[in-house]
Amino acid sequence: MQAPWIAPSILSADFARLGAEVDAVLAAGADLIHFDVMDNHYVPNLTIGPLVCEALRKHGVAAPIDVHLMIRPVDRIVPDFAAAGATYITFHPEASEHVDRTIEIIREHGCKPGLVFNPATPLEYLDYTLEKLDLVLIMSVNPGFGGQKFIATALRKLTEARRRIETSGRAVRLEVDGGVKVDNIRSVAHAGADTFVAGSAIFGSKDYAQTIRAMRAEIGGAIAKRA
Ligand code: DX5
Ligand code: ZN
Repeated sequence: MQAPWIAPSILSADFARLGAEVDAVLAAGADLIHFDVMDNHYVPNLTIGPLVCEALRKHGVAAPIDVHLMIRPVDRIVPDFAAAGATYITFHPEASEHVDRTIEIIREHGCKPGLVFNPATPLEYLDYTLEKLDLVLIMSVNPGFGGQKFIATALRKLTEARRRIETSGRAVRLEVDGGVKVDNIRSVAHAGADTFVAGSAIFGSKDYAQTIRAMRAEIGGAIAKRA
């Protein structure tokens, strides 16, 4: 298990002040920036693309950027995000015609590939891909919107994904996305996640640092319990 990372999702940030919002969550202790890309096609919402990623890099953001693609098709846009400064690029297997090829394209362009599992998507896609991945992302809401309720079946999927990652012996991050709050992050950590996306819980709070500290304290409790 790797050190826990907190990944604020900028979907819930004030887009009119995006650079300052990202600076603020990083100063408040965030480890990486979760960047949600939606196309009004694969998911029923529309957000931001490579130009915004590039703008954050130009603004001076040095932290890893975790680009979560909720778009179809996937492959064409990967080089643009790599050039824009993405660190991780994750995608949904249902949105790619050739999952293995998409993973290769992400890797070839110098980014770290991750596969994303919707609440109803089984983990079988990992059977022949896990050894090529740097991250597995378990959705605990249906993708498309911030501020939704955590879907509890994600917990047993996290546990199974953790088991697979430990068996592989590779340093693959296990990320969770959707409805993660201070009051449920302990059970999510206990289930095996080490990378925690939180949008509304962080950007909707008055004091980002206090919220991130409270999340870390809860995660610490889960790790102590597991050990
Ligand atoms: C949903 C996005 C999430 C979203 C999470 O499709 O992938 O990253 O921002 O928001 P919260 O944490 O508010 O559920
Ligand atoms: Zn996301």
